[in-house]
Amino acid sequence: MKERIFAGIFFFLILQMINSCSIAQPATEMAEEHRPQIHFSPKQKWMNDPNGMVYLNGTYHLFFQYYPDSTIWGPMHWGHATSTDLIHWQEQPIALYPDSLGYIFSGSAVADINNTSGFGKDGKVPMVAIFTHHDPAGEKAGKNDFQNQSIAYSLDEGKTWTKYSGNPVMKNPGIKDFRDPKVSWHEGSKKWIMTLATLDRITFYSSPNLKDWTKESEFGKEVGAHGGVWECPDLFSLDYKGQKIWVLIVSINPGGPNGGSATQYFTGQFDGKTFIPYQTDTRWIDYGTDNYAGITWSNTGDRKIFLGWMNNWQYANVVPTKKWRGAATIPRDLGIEKSGDKYFVTSRPVKELSSINTQSHILDNVVASNYNLAGKTGKLKSPARVTLSSDKIESFSITLSNDAGEKVVIGYDQATNSYFIDRTQSGNVSFEKGFAGKHGAPRLTTDEKFDLTLIIDNASVELFADNGLTVMTEIFFPNGTYNQIHIHSPSNVVIKKLEYITLKSIWK
Ligand code: FRU
Repeated sequence: MKERIFAGIFFFLILQMINSCSIAQPATEMAEEHRPQIHFSPKQKWMNDPNGMVYLNGTYHLFFQYYPDSTIWGPMHWGHATSTDLIHWQEQPIALYPDSLGYIFSGSAVADINNTSGFGKDGKVPMVAIFTHHDPAGEKAGKNDFQNQSIAYSLDEGKTWTKYSGNPVMKNPGIKDFRDPKVSWHEGSKKWIMTLATLDRITFYSSPNLKDWTKESEFGKEVGAHGGVWECPDLFSLDYKGQKIWVLIVSINPGGPNGGSATQYFTGQFDGKTFIPYQTDTRWIDYGTDNYAGITWSNTGDRKIFLGWMNNWQYANVVPTKKWRGAATIPRDLGIEKSGDKYFVTSRPVKELSSINTQSHILDNVVASNYNLAGKTGKLKSPARVTLSSDKIESFSITLSNDAGEKVVIGYDQATNSYFIDRTQSGNVSFEKGFAGKHGAPRLTTDEKFDLTLIIDNASVELFADNGLTVMTEIFFPNGTYNQIHIHSPSNVVIKKLEYITLKSIWK
């Protein structure tokens, strides 16, 4: 008996020790080389697309394509993380596991407030996930109907899930690429609308209950970029001075403006059945190489918050991180701006990001001939936010560099009227032959004035120019953190206001 009590106490103490270690663990676990400090990444293993983003009862849910057994893509699960401020994330247990119908590919989630699905019980709002079941056996056998749409529901805010017994709810009509359902409530027709990627176009379906779906229309076979397969669509409206502008987001792989995968968008009108575009040209939500498969949170009212996978299929499986692979971008508020007679989608880092501001330095009228910012503010401590504005746009560049002489150069080139990020000499670039390179993005306004925000983390930079009209996101892998910032300009451009803010790690 005594031995058993001792054994019990001993066991209890060991448990306590393990517990206290696991509480202390995240800080060290999340501080490895190249680990993003202000972006979500899973503690371990592989992640790709964000999935099932839904806001419910004060919590933002982020599900994501996850393979818990490797740092290389494999049988897909839905990982899960939650946040109350879009900045600090808590990883939760895996939400959805592969089953006899296949892997759990990308999709969305909704808060079924009116219980149209009938899954709600005792007044609890069901969270319903709509995703693609990808059957690897069917794919291997050379069939063309191995991707089907299924649903699952949760009555405890995403902690536990029940897959619907009637799955799949939408059978494949014989289209090899038939996936990534994004569902939202269409108030006009009082129906759910599913936006689905179907090979080289988008197909819209409607449903009263998330279980029975009717095809409404197709869009895009003849419009937009078609350098690769269409994936991960999203459809929503944004307000522009009292006018409702519909936006259709479509990721494509490959065929992006700077190589590999990227995300284009269309502005237009949607009446619950058909999408009519305003534009015939191709536009990108982000011109950088590393923002893919992004979609918006559902149930956030008029606010549309977008987040992408900060990676590119061209090299995602070989980027030089050890314990984990893949991260998310900074969440961005989307808006509409008109430039000429065109509507453009703008992206801006969410305002919640300022909750991790630590020190701020504001400098006025900086002559950017060869300006050593770190000389004024102390060595760059990643992560940081740098904002510049000027009355007159002229060529300039901002160089982030380290003691090993590695650098990323970010800037604007007047001759081509474009922004750029050059990661040719950014550090380890040898893991994939196309990784090193200088990438460009058009300036989309004719305004003389300009503003630019850079969000700098250990292994990424996000550029938001002209109030979010031109955006670029790029990753890099330096051998030693960048600790210097220099600003150059051949014409000695005067930066009217320069703000440098250090940011606190979200894992500490
Ligand atoms: C996009 C994508 C989706 C698919 C998922 C699989 O990155 O290819 O189309 O559902 O990844 O992980």
